[in-house]
Amino acid sequence: MERPTLYVTRLLPQPVLDSIFGQYRMLAEPTDQPPTEDELRRGFAEAQAVICTLTDRINASLLSHVTKLKVIANYAVGYNNIDLPAATQRGIIVTNTPDVLTDATADLTWTLLLALTRRVVEGDAWVRTGHWPGWTPTQMLGADVSGKTLGIIGMGRIGQAVAQRATGFRMSVIYAGRQSVAGPSGISWNRRPLDEVLAESDFLSLHVPLTEATHHLIDRRKLALMKPTAYLINTSRGPVIDEDALVSALEAKTIAGAGLDVYEQEPVVPARLMSLPNVVLLPHLGSATLETRVRMGLICLDNIAAVLGGRPAPNRVN
Ligand code: DGY
Repeated sequence: MERPTLYVTRLLPQPVLDSIFGQYRMLAEPTDQPPTEDELRRGFAEAQAVICTLTDRINASLLSHVTKLKVIANYAVGYNNIDLPAATQRGIIVTNTPDVLTDATADLTWTLLLALTRRVVEGDAWVRTGHWPGWTPTQMLGADVSGKTLGIIGMGRIGQAVAQRATGFRMSVIYAGRQSVAGPSGISWNRRPLDEVLAESDFLSLHVPLTEATHHLIDRRKLALMKPTAYLINTSRGPVIDEDALVSALEAKTIAGAGLDVYEQEPVVPARLMSLPNVVLLPHLGSATLETRVRMGLICLDNIAAVLGGRPAPNRVN
């Protein structure tokens, strides 16, 4: 029997590739480089199934060339890179990879929060210069985390996982979200209007999907509501923050600092942002553990097998 055709836009971890070989006919050898527009168009035009990544723009014009495509498995939980109505209109099923990256992303959120407040990146760089003069009482003072208030915007799976990790730090958790979410037993998470969460948090962490409604959700006005001692962490999507307004707030020190894993125009990071000492900047590492990236790939394959086998896709988003 002829194997179905699969187009994979980017090199995936080896265990995922091992699962592909034998089951599918790969249309192109995936590499770590983003595909050119031409390559993308050819892949989409010929494949029955596609695995694409969050940096591939899957728009209506690209989809207008497909003839055999049944399913797009997005190798990410967020799917703002795909024109969902255009896919739906063509009868193409779109799936994502929820759950399997929740812990990795929540862990990275805490990595940013702690690295930022305890000045880990600056400290490491200093020791490596060979010029650290030894301990002094006033050296590289950061900010306490334990006992403070963590504000979460978007209390979905990842927001809740971030909030759960705050228990060990005896933090109060307040959040803004579409629905009320009960905390773990004996712990209360308080749902509040967005402006109150902004004004009262010592650490503000963003966990909303990127949609028209959340584009620049954190703008100049919202940043101005934050305490001058507060830190902003973003592991969701860059355009949720007005980056220009954030840089101005950081330069003017109207907030204490920011830990960012995502940017408005990835991979471009504004020079003004890179020149600031009160930021920690990561290259979109939210789900970047080997175990997680393998699980994400296997979920993509489960969804593809379901659709091509005539069964419901477990993680359909349209
Ligand atoms: C996602 O899955 O949306 C993440 O940003 C990938 O790291």
